[in-house]
Amino acid sequence: MKNIMKAIIYEEFGSSDVFELKEVEKPTPKDDELLVKVHATSVNALDMIFRSGESLLFGMTKLMAGFKKPKHKILGFDVSGEVESVGGKIKKFKKGDLIYACLRSPGANAEYVRVPEKFAATRPANMSHIEAATVPDAGGTALTGLRDSVVIKEGQRVLIFGASGGVGTYAMQIANTYTTEVTGVCSTSAVSLVESLGANAVIDYTKEDFTKNGQTYDVVFDAVGRGVTSYSKCKNSLTKNGIFVTVDFQSVMFKYMLNKNVKGYMGNVNAEKLDYLRDLIEAEKVKSVVDKVYPLSQIAEAHKYYEEGHPKGKVAISLQE
Ligand SMILES: NC(=O)c1ccc[n+]([C@@H]2O[C@H](COP(=O)([O-])OP(=O)(O)OC[C@H]3O[C@@H](n4cnc5c(N)ncnc54)[C@H](OP(=O)(O)O)[C@@H]3O)[C@@H](O)[C@H]2O)c1
Repeated sequence: MKNIMKAIIYEEFGSSDVFELKEVEKPTPKDDELLVKVHATSVNALDMIFRSGESLLFGMTKLMAGFKKPKHKILGFDVSGEVESVGGKIKKFKKGDLIYACLRSPGANAEYVRVPEKFAATRPANMSHIEAATVPDAGGTALTGLRDSVVIKEGQRVLIFGASGGVGTYAMQIANTYTTEVTGVCSTSAVSLVESLGANAVIDYTKEDFTKNGQTYDVVFDAVGRGVTSYSKCKNSLTKNGIFVTVDFQSVMFKYMLNKNVKGYMGNVNAEKLDYLRDLIEAEKVKSVVDKVYPLSQIAEAHKYYEEGHPKGKVAISLQE
């Protein structure tokens, strides 16, 4: 019985009803991996894409998630947990270390998961496992967009579209580490949250269309994706050299090769980015906004809530039931 663990598995693509709580074999780490006891994980767009089997990025997501059947039976890309054992080549971590990580192959909706060392970092000391589990994918994606895709200077005006969501709440705070001129766009019920994240101004998109108010920005960061906005809609809101950068890589895949004012990107979160985020978190420049916490057994409800499209920050999953 020792090598058995509880996991939420799915064997067919579909809605959140596909999930089943089962006992499966506990994984064994490879030489360059850690075996981590999962304390918490969180819900991300990639979980939805893998669960539904949606084909995006010209089939790339099918290649990763599987064509006819799920390639990985356990979802979950974010991990906060404790190292249980390490592979033969691991030098940086040892049993008992508290880490957080962003997986490229999912598996964190389970009691234990294999984590490649290159995607893991020491967890922020001032966060709980639940808070830390909401950082890797969303925080890392916001960081890649704002630190690596564009170079923001103090005094530049940055607008975050989707400021109250998972990526958006981190983007607000990361943008604030570069400039004090950060505007957040969200719906009415999220205005006070976005103000609390250091916004210089907040635009309620149900009352005002930022693309038509005459204001211009050096960076418009689209943290909503799914084609809700676009470079074409936002171009009059950009300064002469202003940049539209979007989490929706597919929507600008060809445009961005031809136009230096348009950027799309993949999060590609790794240990370096998690180390960078930990420093910001421990310096109290970035915090996590946790909207709801579900036990692992209620993962279907967590997916349903996330899919409604209006979380205030992140949806976390706790394994400390
Ligand atoms: N490129 C990458 O590597 C990468 C990685 C991670 C995520 N993503 C993408 O990033 C996007 C955000 O992910 P997330 O997990 O942060 O999602 P999320 O938590 O659901 O946040 C999305 C936000 O969008 C806002 N929103 C919804 N409908 C809107 C509308 N019509 N107009 C304006 N705002 C609207 C919502 O704010 P209100 O409640 O205020 O409406 C919500 O807070 C997704 O498209 C995801 O696929 C990309």
